[in-house]
Amino acid sequence: MNKKPVVLVVMDGIGCTEKDNGNAVMHAYKPQLDTLIKTCPNIQIKAHGLAVGLPSDDDMGNSEVGHNALGCGQVYSQGAKLVNESIETGAIFKSETWKEALDSCKSGTLHFLGLLSDGNVHSNIAHLEAMLKQAKADGVKKVRIHALLDGRDVPETSALQYVDQIENLIHELNDENFDIKVASGGGRMKITMDRYEANWKMVEEGWHIHVLGEGRKFASMKEAIETYRKELGVSDQDLPGFVIEENGKPVGTIEDGDSVILYNFRGDRAIEISKAFGNENFTEFDRVRFPKVFYAGMLQYDGDLKIPNKFLVAPPHITNTMSEFLVKQGVKSYAISETQKFGHVTYFWNGNRSEKFDDKLETWVEVPSDVIPFEQRPWMKAAEITDLLVDAITSKEYDFLRVNYPNGDMVGHTGNYEATLIGVESVDLMLKRIMNACDKAGYTLLVTADHGNADEMYEKRKNPEDAPKPKTAHTLNPVPFIVYNSDVQLKEGHFGLSNVAATVVELLGFKAPEGWDESLIK
Ligand code: 3PG
Ligand code: CO
Repeated sequence: MNKKPVVLVVMDGIGCTEKDNGNAVMHAYKPQLDTLIKTCPNIQIKAHGLAVGLPSDDDMGNSEVGHNALGCGQVYSQGAKLVNESIETGAIFKSETWKEALDSCKSGTLHFLGLLSDGNVHSNIAHLEAMLKQAKADGVKKVRIHALLDGRDVPETSALQYVDQIENLIHELNDENFDIKVASGGGRMKITMDRYEANWKMVEEGWHIHVLGEGRKFASMKEAIETYRKELGVSDQDLPGFVIEENGKPVGTIEDGDSVILYNFRGDRAIEISKAFGNENFTEFDRVRFPKVFYAGMLQYDGDLKIPNKFLVAPPHITNTMSEFLVKQGVKSYAISETQKFGHVTYFWNGNRSEKFDDKLETWVEVPSDVIPFEQRPWMKAAEITDLLVDAITSKEYDFLRVNYPNGDMVGHTGNYEATLIGVESVDLMLKRIMNACDKAGYTLLVTADHGNADEMYEKRKNPEDAPKPKTAHTLNPVPFIVYNSDVQLKEGHFGLSNVAATVVELLGFKAPEGWDESLIK
């Protein structure tokens, strides 16, 4: 085998399936990918469920667990699974953080903030339900829920199903000693859950809604959702924020002496709001009022910056990552994406760490993303990313380069089939430029994805005559793994994203470290 430097392309959200209905990967015009698959060693690898540390094979893949597996060559039990286990054993409710959260709001309110669905990507409504029941059993008097509506990891207009589920439980739990209500909410792509500082305005709006109780008022979540749907015709993820009021007053602003638990387990979209609650000296926006609360996350979202410092369940302790290994070998690496996925190739890649292992050896480049609905710009920043990546390859300064093209995923999440075709085609166009650069500089090119999304753009139909319904969530499908510009042969068998790290270091001429899953090279 020829040992050469390596470029790894992650085509976010581009999975493989033979099913052709709404398959924007299959139907996109993508001559490069087609040629690569016809002429180069390639296999399909698993990117969901147990292969990436999720509770079961019914769990679709996602970028967090996908990039964790790619970047560390191992499978760790992930947040979704760790929280389930902690609830099953009861450890979560024996934790110091749970006790402190309850003690701190003895004469105040216990607030739960998070994504209200069973998507199992950022959160699970079952975790919220378990905590509400336990709060009552532990003698808490007043609880308020701040519910972010999903429609992105679950069907796009499914919010009322989860609203009913939680309202039923609220109805069951409420009595003269236990006062529990929903206080506020809004679509997850409108308020609170921004990531990688793409749009702090979203977090500011969330702060006004949840903390200050400022926003359009409704008598119930159902009324808010139905009104906005009628007025705006948008799907759940894009519903504006709302405040629940009674007698002209918000039912649950966040005040001094309250406790707040953010019950999302995934970090990227939890960090900014956690900073707003946790940082005394916060400058990203004017909080107007900064209540003195006890704040905890379901997990710790950033191990380097300790965000937040209180958490209910210990996150996966991801060690022995590829970046650590390469730094020890003195290998220079380069990571690039646009804002929406920048943290995926840096923070998730390095096991949910926001800092580099070695400043001199690691170069991270972020191309600012547009702040617009991505179906309006399905090409996103693919060309700008490629300009920089091609320069970096041509410079021959780096032995390992990784890039994430978000198009298949970010456009796929809009549910817009036509735009997603263009998203996939944009990535394909970039592959040609990268292939040329790799040919000239003598680099091996690997092409893969972190999970599927664009490969299924319509929900499964109950009856063949039903009109297609857009699907916004990820898929359970495998992803391609292609080797270009190398004389290797790939193993046959059942492999997953965690086999990629060993493959990369072997192509670079190293023996993969103990504990990593095996390389895909024969
Ligand atoms: C999101 O956060 O946008 C979705 O919930 C998951 O998408 P990702 O895992 O591809 O980032
Ligand atoms: Co996605």
